[in-house]
Amino acid sequence: METIAQSLLSFADLFLSLLGLIIAAALALLIVVVAWMYVSDISQSRQAIRRNYPVIGRFRYIFEHLGEFFRQYFFALDREELPFNRAQRSWVYRAAKNEDSTIAFGSTQPQNIPGEFIFLNGLFPPLKEEVEHERPIQFGSGFSRHPYTTNRFFNISGMSFGALSGPAIESLSKGAAKAGIWLNTGEGSVSPFHTTGACDLIFQMGTAKYGLRDARGSLDENKIKALENNEQVKMIEIKLSQGAKPGKGGILPGIKVDEVIASTRGIPVGEDSISPNRHPEITSLTDLLNFVHYIRECSGKPTGIKCVIGQTEWIDEFCQLIIELGPQFAPDFITVDSGDGGTGAAPLSLMDHTGLPVKRSLPIVVDKLIEHGLRERIRVIASGKLINPADVAAALCLGADCVNSARGFMFALGCIQSLQCNKNSCPTGIATQNRSLQKGLDPRDKSERVANYALNLIKEVETISHSCGVTHPNLLQRRHAQMINEKGIPQSLDQMYPAKTD
Ligand SMILES: Cc1cc2nc3c(=O)[nH]c(=O)nc-3n(C[C@H](O)[C@H](O)[C@H](O)COP(=O)(O)O)c2cc1C
Repeated sequence: METIAQSLLSFADLFLSLLGLIIAAALALLIVVVAWMYVSDISQSRQAIRRNYPVIGRFRYIFEHLGEFFRQYFFALDREELPFNRAQRSWVYRAAKNEDSTIAFGSTQPQNIPGEFIFLNGLFPPLKEEVEHERPIQFGSGFSRHPYTTNRFFNISGMSFGALSGPAIESLSKGAAKAGIWLNTGEGSVSPFHTTGACDLIFQMGTAKYGLRDARGSLDENKIKALENNEQVKMIEIKLSQGAKPGKGGILPGIKVDEVIASTRGIPVGEDSISPNRHPEITSLTDLLNFVHYIRECSGKPTGIKCVIGQTEWIDEFCQLIIELGPQFAPDFITVDSGDGGTGAAPLSLMDHTGLPVKRSLPIVVDKLIEHGLRERIRVIASGKLINPADVAAALCLGADCVNSARGFMFALGCIQSLQCNKNSCPTGIATQNRSLQKGLDPRDKSERVANYALNLIKEVETISHSCGVTHPNLLQRRHAQMINEKGIPQSLDQMYPAKTD
């Protein structure tokens, strides 16, 4: 009896020691695996989240994958998130990674959502050998010393260095160069990161005149003249307003003004810097046209304006004035930004409730230019939530020559829409000046994604245009699309906005 009890005890001892050994081995293995994950996460550069949050960052990708299976039972549907839903973002992520963009089984897009577009396919789409891949878009031809021509109708919208991190700007610059598209500097001037890719730059002049000001903050004519010799700067955009905060300037807190930002913008290190609500020297339409003319004369570069359209009465007067003063006073382009555009930070009431959406404002501007015979003189660029091929094609149908995107390119950089651009804590290192978060963003990889996104989007807009029976996206017209009205019925753009003929 005793021997049985003893053998049972020694068996239990053995079992417990074995169990202890197994647990210790499992723990050791776990530590080795976690250490391996940690090292591989911080030393890889494809995923900023993993680099910034080693090991735990992996859960995002696991959950993202599992979400595909569970979402339809528990969570939001593909088209429910805002400002950009999962379907819109996924398209950008896939395009940026050069992954297959085809989908299986059938459309998940309801065909009765007001405001959505339906393109009208033709019976005889062009053959491969009949399509046009290049169709030059000219800016300032005959009116500036250095007119600009591009073949790309899709480009990067203004986002300043300060709102975005240095590595993000560097990735955009290199990606833009690879894709042959332009990069708008945003109002923070040209930083050393903008020039790394040697891409075409559009210099944006905001109300604080960053990069073009003297020590007292006034416009410095010599700096405008110096832009003539800056080969990378192709055009100048005078920003009157942007969709997310029309009529509102901003304050750049001193805490963000490090030496690079200070030297880029021409402001003192560590001091708050204020952008006024408007350009102090422009108080009327005449002032505006004279200012455009002055900047173009000084710089020799095509010069345009960016604004969000609210009240519209001024557009007739504006066009009349151009006719009176002469076409040399006209802006070479107008960027029409949507009332629902993005920003680093803006008051909710302006973001949500001020300024017309681009679907409405774009045809208004285009039609006024046609009405006054100025459509050939002034190029029109549209921006505002135009991040997928159908959005861009619709803007071209409505009359835009080009489309700019800001947030589309942020998604291409890896933005996960965590809505923290105003908190300096962007987890992907894109919209933050926090160096440790920026570590996760490797411009070598992200610049490829920027280029892939732009080129894949352009390709798919070409596909839409071919389906509509035209040989190039810039030949799309209003008759090629219908917009779903408030009753859920598709209505021809021609009927909604009849004036557009070209
Ligand atoms: C982080 C961030 C910074 C921006 N900075 C500027 C800027 O400096 N100047 C400007 O005119 N617009 C700025 N914008 C607005 C964009 O250029 C664009 O007009 C707007 O976001 C609409 O385009 P989207 O929907 O493709 O983002 C910024 C937007 C974002 C998201």
